[in-house]
Amino acid sequence: MVIDILTLFPESFAPLGESIIKRAQESGKIKINIINIRDFSQDKHKKCDDYPFGGGAGMLMMAQPVCDAVESVLDEKSHIVMASPSGQTFNAKIAEELSKEEHLIFICGHYEGIDERVVEIFKPQQISIGDYVLTGGELPTMVIIDALCRFVEGVISNDSLQEESFSNNLLEYPQYTRPSLFRGLSVPEVLLSGNHKEIARWREEQALEKTKKLRPDLLKKQEKK
Ligand SMILES: C[S@@+](CC[C@H](N)C(=O)[O-])C[C@H]1O[C@@H](n2cnc3c(N)ncnc32)[C@H](O)[C@@H]1O
Repeated sequence: MVIDILTLFPESFAPLGESIIKRAQESGKIKINIINIRDFSQDKHKKCDDYPFGGGAGMLMMAQPVCDAVESVLDEKSHIVMASPSGQTFNAKIAEELSKEEHLIFICGHYEGIDERVVEIFKPQQISIGDYVLTGGELPTMVIIDALCRFVEGVISNDSLQEESFSNNLLEYPQYTRPSLFRGLSVPEVLLSGNHKEIARWREEQALEKTKKLRPDLLKKQEKK
């Protein structure tokens, strides 16, 4: 999978060069390119924002540099995503769907956002990461990329994915590592028993209990299915 990120702040993406996403790139499972929208500005000072027509607070990213940046990487296999508070709320299902695309282009807004004609021209999939406003699309884009890359074949093990929170609309069961006794708190006996059937049953029960307590809304989704 190839991911092209279009941004005015390329250095914000350093976290994608760490840990699992770094290894996924090194092994060739994903390729991430960061493209500076400023390189497409036709202004002699490389300006990419301007005042909104009609007045109002802040500056807007201009359509021209954004459109030219998109068109520099666009082909018939591209799927365009734009982080936006107006988008559909991101979740594991959307992450999994995006992981099946061959080529993703992410447009990162900044300031007060982007001239609406970019949406009218490219009709990107608009995704929000929650009902609050961030200063730019860089963090939401990284959140979306990190989550989708976990679904790309071979990036993490299938076992991890299947028992992860939100698969089957459940939260993950509680987990423990060594030592078995810490500050007077011991690990549940069953996890030390070596009885895999009992462990699996305990985990299933715990996942259900935890979901009932912390996220009962997920169980309602399961009933509707
Ligand atoms: C300050 S925000 C613009 C907010 C816009 N004026 C509004 O009220 O909807 C700048 C950029 O941050 C990104 N952004 C901010 N909050 C977001 C969220 N909750 N989800 C996804 N992207 C977000 C978008 O790319 C947006 O263009």
